[in-house]
Amino acid sequence: MTELETQIGTIEIREAHVNDAKEIVEFKNWVTGEVDYHTYGANDYKICLQDEEKIIEMFDQRPNCLFLVAVFKNEIVAVATLSGGSKERVAHRGNIGITVAKRFWRLGIGKKMMEVIIEYSVENPILTKLELLVHQDNRAAIKLYNQLGFFREGLMQRHFKIEGRYYDGIRMGLLVE
Ligand SMILES: CC(C)(COP(=O)(O)OP(=O)(O)OC[C@H]1O[C@@H](n2cnc3c(N)ncnc32)[C@H](O)[C@@H]1OP(=O)(O)O)[C@@H](O)C(=O)NCCC(=O)NCCS
Repeated sequence: MTELETQIGTIEIREAHVNDAKEIVEFKNWVTGEVDYHTYGANDYKICLQDEEKIIEMFDQRPNCLFLVAVFKNEIVAVATLSGGSKERVAHRGNIGITVAKRFWRLGIGKKMMEVIIEYSVENPILTKLELLVHQDNRAAIKLYNQLGFFREGLMQRHFKIEGRYYDGIRMGLLVE
């Protein structure tokens, strides 16, 4: 568990527990409506409570995975996941997803959660590479990832189709030892 001091108070960053599942499902269903940079939109996170509980358990049990939440005054305000490959040949690669609720942007939460993931990966004996995919127009996220040393690996054409319009996705990576 890590604490982040911000101008609005202390934000707790910790691993998700099974009893967070309901709030996480609700969070993912509304937060994704705030911007068009996710792979799904509002109310499109069609995972039921029992499946979310299994997902959290799986993240907890697997040796190359991490499921983080950021909590402010007992409310989840951000989630970040690191999903290491489940097969031996790709177990060293961890895929990252991160979302901070809009009213908590620019407080350092995203950066802190990414740093926790990177530190976890550096210490992890399996992981040696972090990967993510970011929407071409997501300048805030691209700036954050560049700041942390991520490099551009490629362009995924037509990766997103949002309201009939295509957007590219940028693949980024970071080698960790
Ligand atoms: C991208 C995101 C995770 C950043 O989270 P955050 O908590 O607001 O970021 P931080 O406050 O930790 O900022 C860290 C750095 O990111 C960059 N950044 C964040 N927001 C920015 C903005 N609006 N404009 C420009 N740069 C920005 C800056 O480099 C910033 O460092 P600085 O404050 O020293 O300038 C957040 O905007 C978010 O959740 N967006 C919607 C979901 C999303 O896009 N997820 C990523 C999908 S790949």
